[in-house]
Amino acid sequence: MERVSLNCSKIQDFVSPKKLSEMMCNYEPMLKEILDSYQADKENVLGWMDISKLANDELIAAIEAKADEIRQNADVFILIGIGGSNQGSRAVIEALQVDQKPKILYAGNNLSAAYMNDIFKQIKGKSIYANIIAKNFATLEPGVCFRLIRQYMEETYGSQEAANRIIATGTPGSDLDKLAQHKGYLFLPFPIDVGGRFSVMSAVGLMPMAAAGIPISDVIAGANAMREYMYNTDVKDNDAFKYAAIRNILLKTGKDIEILSYFEPALGYFSKWWVQLFAESEGKDGKGIFPTACSFSEDLHSLGQYIQSGQRIIFETFLNIEEPLGNVIIPRDQSSDGFDYLDDKDLAWVNRVAYEATIKAHADGGVPCLSINIPKLDAFYMGQMFYFFEMACYASGRILGVNPFDQPGVEAYKANMFEALGR
Ligand code: PA5
Repeated sequence: MERVSLNCSKIQDFVSPKKLSEMMCNYEPMLKEILDSYQADKENVLGWMDISKLANDELIAAIEAKADEIRQNADVFILIGIGGSNQGSRAVIEALQVDQKPKILYAGNNLSAAYMNDIFKQIKGKSIYANIIAKNFATLEPGVCFRLIRQYMEETYGSQEAANRIIATGTPGSDLDKLAQHKGYLFLPFPIDVGGRFSVMSAVGLMPMAAAGIPISDVIAGANAMREYMYNTDVKDNDAFKYAAIRNILLKTGKDIEILSYFEPALGYFSKWWVQLFAESEGKDGKGIFPTACSFSEDLHSLGQYIQSGQRIIFETFLNIEEPLGNVIIPRDQSSDGFDYLDDKDLAWVNRVAYEATIKAHADGGVPCLSINIPKLDAFYMGQMFYFFEMACYASGRILGVNPFDQPGVEAYKANMFEALGR
């Protein structure tokens, strides 16, 4: 099987193959325990490890049936959620949605009145469906936005038709579940043993993807294929675990910042999902690599300067899509614009040359560069990418010595805000 894989050939000057293999031997017992830990999930946080439980046949059938209805009737589908409740599906939709039927709008991910007014402008006169997604229905952004959208829909369609157009995804027994029962919404479970940023393979990620026309069975198949790889490979050779180990070795040598770099703008929202995954999982107890992302070649004309010549505290992980997403042949031109050397060349090839030139320049300039090779950007390989990074993040957090599944730091601003708002 072709799979998402790690290429560490450009880091040997920073992490020697001998050092890496020693570390993998040291970590072997812990990594084996990680793979087995699902069996004894005392904290109730490892539900994401077994995809067949997250997305069983009954749930997939319910999601696909509702998605068919939405795709027949809706001009606009509004995803109301924040953080782990919208980033995973958004990563896939923004990368892969082929039509705008329906157009997907994202709400409940900020508190901007201007943004909300714009949403109202965009939905005026349109046929809309909405999916409110919240593990903990106390989160202010989606909660307040849902009230606004819900009232708009009830006024527009009447309460019964509005109820048919609203899907609630939440923790069974939560206030959102009670509201859904009271109003008659379709209720989908936010699994109790899965945190937001690990929830993409549950109804949380799958419902919006299906509404956008993404073949969710391919996403699930990809995640399962990566899971099979993880469980059938010696932990010392497992690419996700090697990636986790290398990150921690680099951190110990002063590489405090990791940049996820990519040359296809379609990966922009995947990079946001990745940033959240690692930031919330590892940034705690005064520890952790600071994760950020660069969209190249654009950011080569801004952050590229710092990466090449600034403080040597950065390492880079490149997302390398092997099959071009498209081809554009550069035409000949009579006027002398200085670009004749590109006559008849494919822009996809030029982009690849830019990637190779960048990785060489950065590595030569003292930036350890890893690549994650992705055979093709489609639903199947995005499923693989999710599982790969989730498992890598779990292992990396454990090696670092933090609990990757809590996010106590997110509470501080909320406490101040709730006090000021008189909650
Ligand atoms: O990963 C997480 O747990 C967080 O990012 C949550 O997803 C985010 O805070 C949204 O939480 P909720 O779904 O409870 O509104």
